[in-house]
Amino acid sequence: MNFEKLKNNPKLPRHLAFIIDGNGRWAKHRGLPRSLGHKAGFDNLKKHTEYVEQLGIKNLSLYCFSKENWNRPEDEVNYLMKLFDQMLDEYKKEYLDRDVRIVISGDMDDERLPESVRKKAKELMELTKDKTGFIINPCINYGGRQEIIMAINEILKEGKSEINANEFEKYLYTKDLLPLDFIIRTSGELRTSNFLPWQSTYSEWYFPKTLWPSFSKNDLVKALNAYMKRNRRFGAIKG
Ligand code: IPE
Ligand code: IPE
Ligand code: MG
Repeated sequence: MNFEKLKNNPKLPRHLAFIIDGNGRWAKHRGLPRSLGHKAGFDNLKKHTEYVEQLGIKNLSLYCFSKENWNRPEDEVNYLMKLFDQMLDEYKKEYLDRDVRIVISGDMDDERLPESVRKKAKELMELTKDKTGFIINPCINYGGRQEIIMAINEILKEGKSEINANEFEKYLYTKDLLPLDFIIRTSGELRTSNFLPWQSTYSEWYFPKTLWPSFSKNDLVKALNAYMKRNRRFGAIKG
């Protein structure tokens, strides 16, 4: 099915995620600094966010910066922070007047983040919290294990001694998002790198070799067609 035919197809994932990997290698292959790979990666992210919204997919999660990414050289981290700052400004301009909600998964109280990023992220979440349309969920300063520990500590603070899975989910960053159906990790790396471990237990995974800045509209169409052919069983016998 081509892009037009895919629009609002009931078989599409309702919640899609991109692990946008390969920016550094994309730049290296071109003899460019890694920062330009990130720039190209974030430009591509903008395009794909539009495609995903046009397709009628309800929720989009984006792995932008992991807790472990603090281990990178300071100048690379600083450059990425600048990109997040810009991204948040662009979101505000683009989405505030529309029915789009921005949820940001990750520790926005971490003082290693620039104050402007923390402030803009919290402001955007607050300003869009009552929107009921498309949800964009950039995961910035996110770690899956850290998220689970955060939830447990919150539960302990409330003095609860027992909790079930449905209640537990209410303590996660993703509490208002739909179940995570499909995860695309570019660049050929076959691992999850601490991305949404609780949420992805029954997600479908897709690992194209393409480096993120080169991941095209056509690559997205191909990935979604592959997803729609999957037989999701959730432990039962189906199909
Ligand atoms: C994007 O790609 C990841 C981030 C935005 C942190 P990488 O920077 O990990 O690119 P590679 O894996 O080194 O090619
Ligand atoms: C995962 O990519 C994190 C993001 C895409 C933001 P990495 O490039 O940091 O993951 P590893 O180090 O290869 O596992
Ligand atoms: Mg990488």
